[in-house]
Amino acid sequence: MDESLIMEGAIRPRRLRTSRALRGLVSETAVRPEQLILPAFVAEGAAEPRPISSMPGVVQHTMASLRAQARRCVEAGLGGMMIFGVPEHKDATGSGALAPDGVLNVALREVREEVGDDLLVMSDVCLDEFTDHGHCGVLDDHGRVDNDATVELYAQMAVRHADAGAHVVGPSGMMDGQVGAIRAALDAAGHLDTVILAYSAKYASAFYGPFREAVDSSLTGDRLAYQQDPANAREALREVDLDLEQGADIVMIKPALAYLDVIRAVRDHVDVPVAAYNISGEYAMIEAAAANGWLDRERAIDETLLSIRRSGASIILTYWALEYALRNRP
Ligand code: PBG
Repeated sequence: MDESLIMEGAIRPRRLRTSRALRGLVSETAVRPEQLILPAFVAEGAAEPRPISSMPGVVQHTMASLRAQARRCVEAGLGGMMIFGVPEHKDATGSGALAPDGVLNVALREVREEVGDDLLVMSDVCLDEFTDHGHCGVLDDHGRVDNDATVELYAQMAVRHADAGAHVVGPSGMMDGQVGAIRAALDAAGHLDTVILAYSAKYASAFYGPFREAVDSSLTGDRLAYQQDPANAREALREVDLDLEQGADIVMIKPALAYLDVIRAVRDHVDVPVAAYNISGEYAMIEAAAANGWLDRERAIDETLLSIRRSGASIILTYWALEYALRNRP
């Protein structure tokens, strides 16, 4: 490149920014509603939707309001809905997760009935919403999460979800071997087409804070013994490789914003679709700042989703999915 051309003003990158039409013409990245997934909470026995104070605008749904929300997702052209159940009663083994009339299994059945194949019905395969100690699995005699016993429960849970109508199951507990066990159980039950969206690289993050309120979690302590250390990026590639060897169809990185480098590294490392979860704390930060008038809410949301897309995730789980799709209708 001849430096003198810049000095003389012949090369002017600003030229392509001069109008909305030009900016649109040269835009490199777009967030597509059909690749957005709305995470949604449903509370057992709720008579009215219950607001979640740390996530303004997000609620614990009733069965009826969840169905109505699913319908809105279809109309907005979203890709799917990831459903989390909040049971009335929790116990040490999270037995509500396996009960066919447990809140999540009922919700999956109802939403699938509502949307058919017009929206992907997705489930979180994890025990933390169902256990009274709040951990993602069952505990051994020393109070540690028992990996292999937990994986067996996940496999049964995934089959229940597929039986109930889930198109996609999302194992999120970070137990070793969970994807392979779930794939084998699904196949044995005849659910050959049920997709596994693996939460492959899931970090032990402070940004899950508001989610704990969203699912009435009773967790004390932390998940450092099973979720990943925020210091480690290479380890994410190893987790992704293991999940792919075990049959994952889509791999996910979570959280998104503090891990954009990990999203990029995974995108460059694999050939399967890559998803990212724009989590509760990332939502809460922007909502809280906007409520204080400290930033322009809609621009901050758009920029956030664009950054996740640009870093390499084609699929984004975000609590803004519906709003974004409605606001950006063609
Ligand atoms: C586990 C699960 C969690 C989230 C999604 N699935 C919580 C955790 O791992 O501690 C967090 C999502 C969010 O913060 O928005 N069931």
